[in-house]
Amino acid sequence: MAKATLSEARNKVSELVKKIRDADHKYYVLAEPDIDDLTYDMMMKELEQLEKNFPTLKKQDSPTARVSGEPTKAFKTVYHKVPMLSLSNSYSFDELLEFDKRIKNILEEEKYQYVCELKFDGLAMSITYQNGELVTAATRGDGEKGDDVTNNIKTIRSIPLSVKDKNFQNFEVRGEIFINKKDFIKINEEQELKDGKIFANARNTAAGTIKIKDSEKVASRPLNFFAYYLRNESGSETSSHTDHKTSHKASIDELKKLGFPVSEKTKLVNDMNGVKKFIDEIEKVRDSLPYDIDGVVVKINSYKQQDKLGFVSKSPRWAIAYKYKSKEQTTKINRITLQVGRVGTITPVAELEPVFLAGSTISRATLHNFDELKRKDIRENDTVVIEKGGDVIPKVTKVILEKRPAGSKPFKIPAKCPVCHSELSKPEEEVNYYCVNNLCPAQIKGRLEHFVQRDAMDIEGLGESLIDLFIEKEYIHNYTDIFDLKYKRNELISLDRFGEKSVDNLLFAIENSKNRPFDKVLFALGIRHIGERTAKILAKHFGSVDNLLSASQEEINSVHEIGPKIAESAHEFFNEKHNIKIIEKLKKAGLKFEIAEDEKVKLNENFAGKTFVLTGSLEKYKREDASEIIEKAGGKVSGSVSKKTDYLLAGAEAGSKLEKAKTLGVKILTEEDFEKLI
Ligand code: IVH
Repeated sequence: MAKATLSEARNKVSELVKKIRDADHKYYVLAEPDIDDLTYDMMMKELEQLEKNFPTLKKQDSPTARVSGEPTKAFKTVYHKVPMLSLSNSYSFDELLEFDKRIKNILEEEKYQYVCELKFDGLAMSITYQNGELVTAATRGDGEKGDDVTNNIKTIRSIPLSVKDKNFQNFEVRGEIFINKKDFIKINEEQELKDGKIFANARNTAAGTIKIKDSEKVASRPLNFFAYYLRNESGSETSSHTDHKTSHKASIDELKKLGFPVSEKTKLVNDMNGVKKFIDEIEKVRDSLPYDIDGVVVKINSYKQQDKLGFVSKSPRWAIAYKYKSKEQTTKINRITLQVGRVGTITPVAELEPVFLAGSTISRATLHNFDELKRKDIRENDTVVIEKGGDVIPKVTKVILEKRPAGSKPFKIPAKCPVCHSELSKPEEEVNYYCVNNLCPAQIKGRLEHFVQRDAMDIEGLGESLIDLFIEKEYIHNYTDIFDLKYKRNELISLDRFGEKSVDNLLFAIENSKNRPFDKVLFALGIRHIGERTAKILAKHFGSVDNLLSASQEEINSVHEIGPKIAESAHEFFNEKHNIKIIEKLKKAGLKFEIAEDEKVKLNENFAGKTFVLTGSLEKYKREDASEIIEKAGGKVSGSVSKKTDYLLAGAEAGSKLEKAKTLGVKILTEEDFEKLI
């Protein structure tokens, strides 16, 4: 029996590993996922459990190894087999033309091509594979030796832990580790909630993350990778697999085939005209790329020619970086003002001497919070460096102390709200100060702006200036008034800035927003600490606003991924009379306060609150379908049998889980029993 179970487990493990790897590749590399999160999590859990029960089946390159909890004590030193060099920089096209001239001089009559790549603003990483398995990942360090960050790199799901290709056994891949701009903003938001330490940019966030000693924490940070270098020590020279040894472009193509993420922007060009076109095209889309770049890299394609060109000191003569214009400027802070956000957060803002930076004139920059202000010791009349990265709001990165005027004093934290003069409060575990007055005009305006924005109610045409105008005209005081604007059609048309058509467009957009799904409506309500993702989780779990209104703080807190701070804030919000009234009115106006029918949990008392484990092969249901039925009826599906398990749904050839369930006295269901429960 035991033997049969082991072989069954072996088959299952290899099947799961294959499926998970395939899913990872589709999700993280191709960005075309083909299974849902639940199915993925279930496969992962099942694999974890199997590996726990049968430790011999756990391979070094198992997908579960990506979140190993083993802390990396200190980083070991890794010596690079081939030094990791840097690129010489250029800042104008003329410099590039000179680079091209030098190449022409050395290559003489030979024809050559360039590969144009993005210069990712992350950190370089060298990853080595032996016998097809990822064995080491190291930072660039000083170019000769770097830090061994293997455990951390293994958490990046787009990087294969093993490669099944007999021609690629022992090889090295190099590329850039980075964090997407959006994720960087999210991480900073989370940081702000936690301890106020804020990263200056996505690059620093990635660099900081790579040096975290706890891989589990690293796994929760969305690191990305683009490969741009391949050095293969294996494979026979005569096989057809040697293209990657002849040119850079061919090795990029090979990297892609091996399953590594490579940039789709990489382009082979024939001459400097092609290079120029690439640079201009990328500059146009630069800000809309999901990640930061600071330029492009131009490389000679042929390896033979690269060898011929060689190196000067620490940079290759066959490649050059072209850097886009700096996104930094120095300017003076004329004043520090205070902004009051929609939940009352007081944010210090630097009012700057206007400067032109990366395509626009900047006259304000956020200073985040008073902790930051104090840490950087930013004062009025200071000369400071400001920076803008991609679509990130400009920020003050440092003070030029030598230019600080005599007699300057640190900025004082205000005692009262600058708009309504109410008291300020500061929750002990937070860095923010809040205006306590819900009816503070600044909060009202902030809430309305939040409510209509794209990710919330998505009311096109109702922007900041219109909201200002409508507040001034006293047309709107709260969310509900927006839906009554249709009764003011004639008044609106008579306003200077409106014609009949634009009023109707606006009214249409308002009506149309009533189709927004419940989770967006929940997010739009602007509850403190409830961002888009949290709103989604709460909407899915509770199904309707009525369930949320009647939920206790403990109930909210017990939802997976919902912490005490969110629970407290949500509970407080849904128990305030004023909010309840507004929700009632919005309901009447026709907004969605329930999740869609097909997403609904149809509570079935046989399932609600019960934990199920599935095992063996089921005849009538696919595992994911059975799981869905359970979850939609209010039950939970777990990967392993424990005392907390209520039911084990056992199909044919059930193994260790069935044994365990029997010893623990867990109720065992056949498929027929399961159907009866439904
Ligand atoms: S090639 C000798 N390609 O730039 C070749 N580097 O200054 C060196 N980088 O340490 C690497 N994007 O961190 C190369 N497409 C790209 C790159 C790139 C960003 C970074 C990398 C490297 C630094 C060199």
